[in-house]
Amino acid sequence: MKRPIAMIAGTGRAVPKRVMTNDEFAAIGIDTNDEWIRERTGIKSRHVAGPGETLTSLSAEAARIAMTAAGVTPGEIDSIVMATVSPDHLLPAAAVEVQAAIGATRAAAFDVDAACTGWIYGVTVAEGLIATGTAETVLVIGGEVLTRIMDWKDRNTCVLFGDGAGATILKKSTKGRGVLASYLRSDGTLAKLLWRPSGGGAKTVTADMLTDGSFFIQMQGRDVFKHAVRSMADAVDRALDAAKLSADDIDLVIPHQANIRIIEATAKHANVSMDKVYVNVDRYGNTSAGSIPIALDEALGNGRITEGSTVMFVGFGAGFTWGSVIARF
Ligand code: UT7
Repeated sequence: MKRPIAMIAGTGRAVPKRVMTNDEFAAIGIDTNDEWIRERTGIKSRHVAGPGETLTSLSAEAARIAMTAAGVTPGEIDSIVMATVSPDHLLPAAAVEVQAAIGATRAAAFDVDAACTGWIYGVTVAEGLIATGTAETVLVIGGEVLTRIMDWKDRNTCVLFGDGAGATILKKSTKGRGVLASYLRSDGTLAKLLWRPSGGGAKTVTADMLTDGSFFIQMQGRDVFKHAVRSMADAVDRALDAAKLSADDIDLVIPHQANIRIIEATAKHANVSMDKVYVNVDRYGNTSAGSIPIALDEALGNGRITEGSTVMFVGFGAGFTWGSVIARF
């Protein structure tokens, strides 16, 4: 096992005030029901951004909490790595908007687009920045306001997503704490199974894109499900190999929260019982890049992670991207 270089020194989270239950979809004319959503996904409710709530405001709130937890001031942040697919503006990066909001005037700020695996990619980038001496203190945020880029008429997707942000401060490792292994993969040949067909530079923007739904997230759910199960299993195996650990050495698994059935399949493959797996998909839905850091912050707050815990993070998302990080706390 390698000596850790970078550790998670503080975390925070922020979600919109409004909680939307499954029953509310039928009330807005979507042909769905609470029973279907619960049974197929495990989701009971999600947070939905309201007026004045943006990716920047949620991310900045989460970042302030994480900075306080880590005992770091905005001026000490050297880099901000923002993982998102739902920035407030397409130009410039979401990270610079957060930089301005929190007053991290010295930081280099940029986005990482790896969809639901974004925070895992972000942590791995941050570890590299610290390893090379480019940065000492890195703010990694995973956050989304997906409810603003989903098709509210498409029951295949609109019941799945939620909004929220999780922030983490990474610093040089002390006392053997920190990232023990990470593993990143992508397969761009599968991009069209989960994507936004229009709205980017490939086509001139037209009004049709809004009416035909191609401006919004589109997903072939069943295919994505199969790949998610396979890829999460791969990510579990590869991270354990890289860290030279076995499943018994892991105190808690924090998987991407997309669907309870994917989470259960991942736990089964890893040979880890569900009581060692963190689940909050029931209360947040799929918050993409926000899902793992939000769960991490909850797990630190409610004592599921304590000093010395070894935690495995596993993610999968559009791209496709997938990966894992094992860290000691
Ligand atoms: O964040 C990472 C990427 N995303 C994921 O990991 C999501 C992966 N996929 C999934 O989680 C699941 O595939 C879904 C939850 C999206 C769908 O569950 P499923 O068990 O794979 O359902 P399905 O797509 O096979 O659809 C089964 C039926 C269909 O009806 P027919 O063709 O059998 O008559 C759908 O039209 O369920 C229908 N359906 C719904 N019914 C009620 C689809 N969405 C809904 C809905 N309410 N919201």
